[in-house]
Amino acid sequence: MDITFRLNGEVVSLTGISPTTTLLDWLRETKHLTGTKEGCNEGDCGACSVMISDQSGHRALNGCILFLPQINGKSVTTVEGLSAPDGTLHPVQQTMIDHHGSQCGFCTPGFAVSMATAHLNGKTDHDTQLAGNLCRCTGYAPIIRAAQAAETQPVPHHLKTLQLPNGQESSGGPAQPDGGRQPPQHIQPTTTDDLAHWYAAHPDATLIAGATDVGLWVTKQFRDLGASAFLNRIDDLRGITDAGDHWRIGAMTTIADLETHFAPHHPSLATMLRRYGSAQVRNAATIGGNIANGSPIGDGSPALIAMGATLHLRHADSRRSLPLEDFFIDYGKQDRAPGEFVEAITIPKQPDTLRCYKLSKRFDQDISAVCGCINLMRDGDTIISARIAFGGMAGTPKRATATEHSLQNQPFTEATFRSAMTMIAEDFQPLSDMRASAAYRLQTAQNMLLRYFHEADGVETDLQRVTS
Ligand SMILES: Cc1cc2nc3c(=O)[nH]c(=O)nc-3n(C[C@H](O)[C@H](O)[C@H](O)COP(=O)(O)OP(=O)(O)OC[C@H]3O[C@@H](n4cnc5c(N)ncnc54)[C@H](O)[C@@H]3O)c2cc1C
Ligand code: FES
Ligand code: FES
Repeated sequence: MDITFRLNGEVVSLTGISPTTTLLDWLRETKHLTGTKEGCNEGDCGACSVMISDQSGHRALNGCILFLPQINGKSVTTVEGLSAPDGTLHPVQQTMIDHHGSQCGFCTPGFAVSMATAHLNGKTDHDTQLAGNLCRCTGYAPIIRAAQAAETQPVPHHLKTLQLPNGQESSGGPAQPDGGRQPPQHIQPTTTDDLAHWYAAHPDATLIAGATDVGLWVTKQFRDLGASAFLNRIDDLRGITDAGDHWRIGAMTTIADLETHFAPHHPSLATMLRRYGSAQVRNAATIGGNIANGSPIGDGSPALIAMGATLHLRHADSRRSLPLEDFFIDYGKQDRAPGEFVEAITIPKQPDTLRCYKLSKRFDQDISAVCGCINLMRDGDTIISARIAFGGMAGTPKRATATEHSLQNQPFTEATFRSAMTMIAEDFQPLSDMRASAAYRLQTAQNMLLRYFHEADGVETDLQRVTS
């Protein structure tokens, strides 16, 4: 596969690269740019953070689970590219020194890149921007002070004018008629139509969206992916469109874009998505990948099911749609035929009665033990519709149908909710695992229902700080 990108301003063209080479390995082993560090090699620590820029802006991503074809046509800035060509340090590098933000220094390049990306984007929510960067010896206070001190300083000229390798497009483009040559094993199509036809002809191929799952298959399980299609250049598979009475969300829409879009419409969903992985993970992970992997502990599906989402699947030129909850048949088994892929999700526009509760051992960067999404509509004081879905409570993301039924047409009172809480045990027989015991899962899921009631009643339930 051939790709072209800019690295710290210089155009780089690679031919015949192995498509599952990660940017981190290539930077360190081929370019000997060893500022970008390898910590966990699975997206958890941010030591490998790089800044990726394209027409849609600048994002911090984890280089360890970013395959080279995913940066085709983009601009990459590593820690070596943060300082100006004359050696003047980037403001965040200088403030890290001034505020003693580095001790052993292993995490520092990743922090500097995340901070410089946030600085360029004018973001000052430093806890959020840096939640994907782990530091084990300095402590976060000096690092946050350094980020704050850089806020008012101008973006260096060389980063303001980042260029893309325009006019140097890759030859590793869409699946094309090949005049009798062997069909390509690795493709990077630019339209959904090209993908649909190639995938129908190569149903065993691996689709690679944000690679926040697939990346780990390679870096941790050393799997050979075989034929593969990188979806990151398919613009018509990405984005959220207003279709009148519903939203249409392309499969390649990132979790970060979903969070931004839904913040004004369903703030509770955005608040929950803020705790999905880290900024680097949300910038890469797509909602199509989050659904297609069928994970019982994914955070996207419970919320979308509670909102009444419809899933749109495509095989070659034929399309079909189904309620999202029906896609999940059993653990590891989804209603998806060979060669069929997720094209989009649609969500009816609705009043904001949705509340999403993510329960995990850590606040940031942790997989849910239980994720509960509750959406109750009322007419006066009567509950007229109930959609409730949980992750972490069964082998799939699943609706709480018995609980929903018990709430329907009932008065919106604590007694109704306490009675409905008992129905959660009818709906779910959760498992015990390293994240939580079955009993804990059951009790916390029940309590989420009560929390919904109290929140609607104006009780403050979002207590993250305890004061004496
Ligand atoms: C550090 C870290 C933290 C994480 N935290 C969370 C978290 O808090 N909550 C959570 O829910 N998840 C979390 N995840 C899991 C991961 O981010 C999600 O599952 C992610 O949404 C997958 O999307 P992707 O675009 O990266 O998919 P990929 O890794 O590219 O693909 C995942 C699977 O879906 C398939 N696929 C991708 N797109 C399509 C499509 N359009 N049609 C059909 N099949 C497709 C792929 O072939 C593959 O089987 C985390 C992952 C990491 C590494
Ligand atoms: S090395 Fe830890 S996130 Fe990449
Ligand atoms: S400075 Fe040592 S891990 Fe951060």
